[in-house]
Amino acid sequence: MSERSEPSTTAPKARLLTGDRPTGPLHLGHLLGSLQSRVAMQDSHECFLIVADLHTLTTRPERERIAELPRNVRAIVLDLLSVGIDPSKSTIYLQSGVPAVYDLAILLQMLIPASHLRSLASIAQMAKIAGVDDERMSLGLLGYPVLQAADILMARAQLIPVGGDNLAHVEIAREVAQLFNEMYADVFPLPEGQASRVPMLPGIGPDGPAASKMSKSAGNTINLGDPAEVVAQKLRTLSGSRLRAFIDALFDDPAQAEAMSAEHRAGQLSDAAAHEQLIQATEALLAPLRERRAAFEADDGLIEEILVDGTIRAREVAYATLQQVREAMGLEPLWKGLIDVAERRALARKKPY
Ligand code: TRP
Repeated sequence: MSERSEPSTTAPKARLLTGDRPTGPLHLGHLLGSLQSRVAMQDSHECFLIVADLHTLTTRPERERIAELPRNVRAIVLDLLSVGIDPSKSTIYLQSGVPAVYDLAILLQMLIPASHLRSLASIAQMAKIAGVDDERMSLGLLGYPVLQAADILMARAQLIPVGGDNLAHVEIAREVAQLFNEMYADVFPLPEGQASRVPMLPGIGPDGPAASKMSKSAGNTINLGDPAEVVAQKLRTLSGSRLRAFIDALFDDPAQAEAMSAEHRAGQLSDAAAHEQLIQATEALLAPLRERRAAFEADDGLIEEILVDGTIRAREVAYATLQQVREAMGLEPLWKGLIDVAERRALARKKPY
């Protein structure tokens, strides 16, 4: 079992929570956009990284899609570990393994106007991608942000780094936290969204409308787990402005990137020569990931152990929060009141008289 090091300072670190739906492997765009900063924030924050499998069910509830989860869940945990997420610092957990989150989601639903959900562009977008029209939109998809609010609030998280489309969901979590605190008791810190850096990384492959952004659904990604030959082969498909966009995104030194881009634009740097430099820069990023990935993969059962440990820890946190919520709302006193009377009756009946 992985040891969890206690923070040496007395002041508790702010909690950070973020994560991904396990729909497939993570790619270079994820690395530059969000994964690198997650790794960097592991020391300054207490990090919770959710593998949001329940959220995948909002658009993919079919049996066959659920059957893909074991593989996708494992892949995403391996991606996180390979980029340098350290399970002794960060809690990686499986959302569906924390049932207290559903309890919390039900209670939070009472405080979220349905009209706020219906007007969200993010939900319309997810429905569109999944080919679901308005008539058939499930309550689960409409309630996607409610479940996300439960994720965030169960951990009493303060900082939520997300992609731009998810900022509105964090806002809903913040509003519901504020309302809850006013109505019942001060249980939740108010979570704040933080927009992840948008990497100006286009997709690989032929030109086309989907080429402007690397994305899984467009099938134009360089995956973190791709072998070196595959990465090189993919990079060699780039030309023109997309090739320059890669140069700008991948060279740490902006002066160097700018000089290269300028040379390429002026025709002084050939595509082939630029490819070789890009391949080198990309390999400098991906080679250490590949090494860590191989080490985690070679250790049979380690990935599962890390996820189980993290999920157990998330359960503890979630139950503690749920308990406070039930107490604040009067549900726990309701139950305790019943128990008290029933207990008294049982005692009285055993009494000889
Ligand atoms: N909605 C996120 C996504 O687009 C995943 C997610 C689920 C999440 N719960 C979260 C992100 C809580 C941040 C906080 O994949």
